[in-house]
Amino acid sequence: MTLKVLSVVSEAYPLIKTGGLADVAGALPAALAPYDVRLTTLIPGYPPVMKALEKSQTVHHYKDLLGVEAHLVGGIAGGLEVIVLDAPALYTRGGGPYAGPDGKDWPDNWRRFAALGRAGADVAAATDLLHAHDWQAAMAAAYLRFDKKTATPSVVTIHNIAFPGRFPAEIFPSLGLPLEAFSIDGVEYFGGVGFLKSGLQAADAITTVSPTYAEQIHEPEFGMGLDGLIAARRDRVFGIVNGIDTAVWNPASDQNLAAVYDDGTLRAREENRRAAEVAFGLSEGEEPLFCAVSRLTQQKGMDVLAAVVDELVAMGGRLAVLGTGEAEIEAAFTAAAVRYPGAVGVRIGYDEALSHLLQGGADAIVIPSRFEPCGLTQLYGLRYGCIPVAARTGGLADTIVDANEAALASGAATGFLFDSVTPEGLTRALQRAMGAFGRREIWRCLQKRGMKTDFSWARSGQRYAELYKRLVNKSL
Ligand code: ADP
Ligand code: GLC
Repeated sequence: MTLKVLSVVSEAYPLIKTGGLADVAGALPAALAPYDVRLTTLIPGYPPVMKALEKSQTVHHYKDLLGVEAHLVGGIAGGLEVIVLDAPALYTRGGGPYAGPDGKDWPDNWRRFAALGRAGADVAAATDLLHAHDWQAAMAAAYLRFDKKTATPSVVTIHNIAFPGRFPAEIFPSLGLPLEAFSIDGVEYFGGVGFLKSGLQAADAITTVSPTYAEQIHEPEFGMGLDGLIAARRDRVFGIVNGIDTAVWNPASDQNLAAVYDDGTLRAREENRRAAEVAFGLSEGEEPLFCAVSRLTQQKGMDVLAAVVDELVAMGGRLAVLGTGEAEIEAAFTAAAVRYPGAVGVRIGYDEALSHLLQGGADAIVIPSRFEPCGLTQLYGLRYGCIPVAARTGGLADTIVDANEAALASGAATGFLFDSVTPEGLTRALQRAMGAFGRREIWRCLQKRGMKTDFSWARSGQRYAELYKRLVNKSL
């Protein structure tokens, strides 16, 4: 029997994307389909989502959903089977899904995402299972729990525990939850309301996006105040590594590249490197081209990369950075590009096509994350022969095989991992990468091994399907 699952999420590729969450949410339906799971995605009706909606049909009208009028509209959008929460008062605005054009979070985010949760619980009640992603959707699990009228099981996936969705206690009466919900094992969180916490407390299973991160969040250093809850529920916590959409990310057919290639035609990457040099204002050259495609934040260790640009250039490396984020880090990279014209190029902004070109043309991608639940850019890098130089944490540690002597000898190596996210630690890793780049056969081995590794959704899709089935059969 086909299992009907509602995936509730605040972004999904190709409809709206600010990061890896969208890639995962957009890929999950196809990942689960082979295992007899039909996954429908409930997503807010932001303008680009409304625009993409086809074959739509109103399935429910709320006169008052947490204070606003709303409709649930079923249809197809961007190739996904969706139910859109059409609530113009909440979602018809400029800016991004979470913040206005000034970069500041919308002040009514609590209402915007509590409404998503409320609708999520209502829709999920008629399905076999709820799967909610991150704090923006987590309230769906809490509403299901406190509704008490259905027994629909729920999974909450943590893509990033650093975003707790915490709001002042004053919002509680507007959430429409019973009074008893405002308690330590309910939605209360450090005196306020914690959306992620509420969901994690309510969920029948908690997953996160790599086995290593699943272990790490049991500890205060990574648990960000939720480690106690995670530890208390440890028998319900699972790490399932993300896959990638191998149709969207395929160097042999990628329309964003100047030249397509596979592991037998790696020389064609040179044409992409040339195109990347032009796009980033770099001089044509044979020196290794490192890149970063990232939110420019502390989490991603981008401050550390900015701090070692001088060393990188002194070693003979070049750098292309694509990203947006914290003003100071943006400024540091922009200043580096001015300091090293032709050797360092920076594009402050979000550009899907350029992100593909860098993976297909740069020699290596630098990912010095302080923590990384899974990380997708290393997976894209591996598939594109763009060698990752990454911190040994979370999903990076799970998906990259460090090029130590033994791994090189056995041909298992795929990248460079380092332990200490400091300028010294990163510089040493960059030196190792430079050394290997100078030994062509070794570099080619690394590239080919990465490109041959299976990062498709097949295994992880199966793991989610198994988890869903155990929950539905009450055998967990
Ligand atoms: P996170 O979700 O924490 O930002 P991930 O590595 O999981 O990190 O996913 C990041 C996603 O966003 C990848 O698909 C990456 O290519 C994309 N991305 C990040 N920054 C940019 C950018 N400036 N332009 C285009 N794509 C970007
Ligand atoms: C989050 C994490 C990232 C992960 C992504 C998708 O944004 O920061 O590590 O890959 O979610 O799960």
